[in-house]
Amino acid sequence: MKNKIIVTGGCGYIGSHTVVELINNNYDVVILDDLSNSSVETLGRIEKITGVKPVFIDIDLKNDTETKKVFSKHKDAKAVINFAAHKAVGESVQKPLMYYKNNLYSLINMLSSMVENNINGVIFSSSATVYGTPETLPITEKSKTQRPFSPYGNTKKIAEEVIDDLIKSNDNFSAISLRYFNPIGAHESGLIGELPSGVPNNLMPYITQTAVGLREKLMVYGNDYPTKDGTPIRDYIHVVDLAKAHVLAVERIINKQQEQPYEIFNLGTGNGFSVLDVINSFEEVTNSKLNYEITDRRPGDVPELYAATDLVKEKLGWEPKKSLNEMIKSSWDWEQKLRNNKE
Ligand code: UD1
Repeated sequence: MKNKIIVTGGCGYIGSHTVVELINNNYDVVILDDLSNSSVETLGRIEKITGVKPVFIDIDLKNDTETKKVFSKHKDAKAVINFAAHKAVGESVQKPLMYYKNNLYSLINMLSSMVENNINGVIFSSSATVYGTPETLPITEKSKTQRPFSPYGNTKKIAEEVIDDLIKSNDNFSAISLRYFNPIGAHESGLIGELPSGVPNNLMPYITQTAVGLREKLMVYGNDYPTKDGTPIRDYIHVVDLAKAHVLAVERIINKQQEQPYEIFNLGTGNGFSVLDVINSFEEVTNSKLNYEITDRRPGDVPELYAATDLVKEKLGWEPKKSLNEMIKSSWDWEQKLRNNKE
């Protein structure tokens, strides 16, 4: 018998890559998604990659009654991975209530339905944004968290606290929060990747869309930070490496290997690259020049963020494999495929 895992937001960017890794590791997957920021076509693409079409339920997790129904139908699930959330930082500043409502109502409904149906393990998709402006680098899991700059970021911090409180009240329940640094890249098949809706906020899709001619030029937000070249430093991580960490986290929960009922791990490579490093790698990988211009800082950006990776290596046995050039090449291959398919 295969173990069943419920994946909320499984049609999205990180969700779809994780579903592929779960299927490749012999799990039965049930995807719950409202397709608000993803496409149903992703299911066929997952099938092309793995040979298996996962069960899919189109559901808005804000709907308590529907959520309960679905979870009681799949109460044999061994764990849940929660990706379902809105994630655009700028939009969350404009529409904070929409973000709090969507990201937290759905989380609370999901957790209630889990408890009711005795599904006692969750993996939560968190973010390095919970560290705010770090006091020391690299960032360890023990580094202080701060109120994030954006409502989006704050939903991640609050969600971690909700999970923590639930665990303190319920001896059966356990969780792993994975704090992502900067996920980029796409699956090597070129069939799944990031599909930003509208104008991308994040660096990598902005670069690839500029190179492909969809955007005129990349604006580099500030070169007066206290870093080696003045541009901010981030820890970019390949989405497939990230997805594999979720499979290890699922195994840890199912096999009851946790040392504490609530564990938190950073997911980054431990290497910091500046915005100009990323642009230079992109130009090297694609053998082309990128049109860019230095402009003012973006409010809320921190100068430098990169992860300490010792804990996740030791406890999950996870190690990222892909270099920055490999990440960038896969993002570029994906962007080109997307545009060719549209022509
Ligand atoms: C952002 C969010 C973070 C979220 C993550 C993934 C903030 C403060 N943080 O991280 O909460 O989890 O995305 O969605 O928004 N840059 C440019 N030009 C651009 C875009 C980005 O110069 O057009 C620079 C930024 O200033 C930053 C770096 O590229 O230094 C990375 O930016 P981005 O990809 O948006 O990620 P973060 O800001 O690190």
